[in-house]
Amino acid sequence: MDKEVLYVKGPSKIAGEVEISKAKNAILPILASTVMVKNPVVINQVPALLDVTSMLTLLGQMGVDVTVSQDMSIELDATKLFRLKAPTDLVQEMRASCLVLGPMLSRFGYAEVAMPGGCAIGTRPIDMHLDGFRKMGATIKYRNGYVVARCRAGRLKGADIKLQQVTVTGTENLMMAAVLAEGRTTIMNAAKEPEVIDLALFLNTVGANIHGAGTDTIIVDGVEQLSSGSHHVLFDRIEAGTYLIAAAATRGSIKIKHVVPSVLRVLLEKLEEAGANICTGPDWVLLDMQNQRPKAVSVETMPYPGFSTDFQAQWSILNAVADGEATIAEQIFDNRFMHVKELKKMAANIKLDGNTIMTKGRSHLTAAEVYATDLRASACLIIAGMLAHGTTIIRDIRHVDRGYELIEEKMVRLGVDLYRKQEPVESF
Ligand code: EPU
Repeated sequence: MDKEVLYVKGPSKIAGEVEISKAKNAILPILASTVMVKNPVVINQVPALLDVTSMLTLLGQMGVDVTVSQDMSIELDATKLFRLKAPTDLVQEMRASCLVLGPMLSRFGYAEVAMPGGCAIGTRPIDMHLDGFRKMGATIKYRNGYVVARCRAGRLKGADIKLQQVTVTGTENLMMAAVLAEGRTTIMNAAKEPEVIDLALFLNTVGANIHGAGTDTIIVDGVEQLSSGSHHVLFDRIEAGTYLIAAAATRGSIKIKHVVPSVLRVLLEKLEEAGANICTGPDWVLLDMQNQRPKAVSVETMPYPGFSTDFQAQWSILNAVADGEATIAEQIFDNRFMHVKELKKMAANIKLDGNTIMTKGRSHLTAAEVYATDLRASACLIIAGMLAHGTTIIRDIRHVDRGYELIEEKMVRLGVDLYRKQEPVESF
C-alpha cells in the first residue's frame, strides 16, 4: 500500500485568482436526502471530493441509481432503494453518513446506521438527532454497533423539538425526517448555517414544505411524497475562507470567484482587522495584504453567523506568523487542536490552555516533517509549509482530499511550490 505525502517548498506567497467549488457540507446532506425521493433528481457541478465519493458509494450500496455526467452533474434515483442500512466501514470513513438516518426514517419508518462514535476532532455524539427522532415517534435501539431506528406507526409524526445546543447535521437530520412526517414539526434553536438553507431550498424544489431555514426556528409541514427536480449547490465558504486566510498569512493577494461575499462577512471583518484590504463584487472577493505582515487577531469560534470552527486551524497559522499575541477560543469541538503540536515542530510559538490556543507571532517558520490529522488541520499545515523556510513534508495528506477539490492545481496556479508523491509503506 502507498501513502501520500505532500511536499511544500517555502517561503512562497499567494498571488492570483481561484474558482471556489461547491460546498461539501451542503452536498452531503442533499445527497443523503435523495433517498426520500421516488423520482430522479439532478445535483449540478458536484465537486470531486473523497467525502462525496463515500456518500455516493453508500447510496449506491443502498440501491440508489447514481449516474455521473462528464460535467459532474449527478442524477440520483432512489425509486428502487432496497437496503435500509449504512454499514460500519462507510460510517467510520465519513461521519456524515449518519445523515441518511432522517431521510430513511421519513420514507420507510426504519433505518439502521453504524454508530459514528468519536472522531479526530472530538467525541461528537448524535444524541440530539436521536432524541428528536424519538419525539417524532421513533424507537431507538442499539444492536451490534448499529443504531436501529424504527417507527412502529410507519409514518413519523410532527413534533416540537428544542435542541439543547446548536447542531448542524442534527438540524439537517431532523428537518429531513420531518419532510414526509404527518403534520407540522417545529425545530427550535436550529442551526442557521448557509448549508442548512441550501438543503431546505433543494427539498422545497422537490416538493417539501419548509419555512424558516436560516433562522433559529424551522417549520416543516409534512407532505405525502416528493417529486423530480434539480439543484445548483451553494459555494464552499470554508474552501473560500481557507484561500483568503492563506493569502493573508503569506502577505499575498487573491481574488476568489463564484462566491456570495455576504456569507463570509464575519471572516472578512477579521481579515480586515488583520490588515487586509478587501473589495467585494456580486460574486467575488479581492484581498490584498500589500506585502504587509498580518496583525494577530483573537477570535472565538461560534455557530453561524459567528467565526466558524472550520477556520480555527487556518487562523492559528495566520496568528502564528502575525505581528503580536492572540488567542483563539474553540467553543464547538472538544479536541480540535491536533495542528498545535505539528505547528510547534515548525518552530511556531503556540500553546494550548484548555480550549484556548495562544500564539505570539514569529515572522517565519522552519520546515519540518508533520502529520495531517484531519481535514482542516491539513489545510493549516499546507499554509504553514508556504510560510516556512525549506521543504515541509506533510504526511497523511489524504485528509485534504475529503474537502478541498483540486487543491494542488489551485495552489500551484496561485504560485505555491508544492507536489504530492506516493511513498511505499514499509512492511515488516
Ligand atoms: N453535539 C452533541 N450531540 C449531538 C450533536 C452534536 O453533543 O447530537 C455536539 C458536537 O459534539 C459538537 C457540537 O455539538 O461539540 C456541534 O456539532 P455539530 O453537530 O454542529 O457538528 P456536525 O454537524 O457534526 C458540521 C460540519 C462540520 C463543522 C460543524 C460545525 C458537516 C458534514 N459537518 O458537523 O464540518 O465543523 O458542523 O460547524 O456539515 C468540516 O467540514 O471539516 C467539518 C468538521
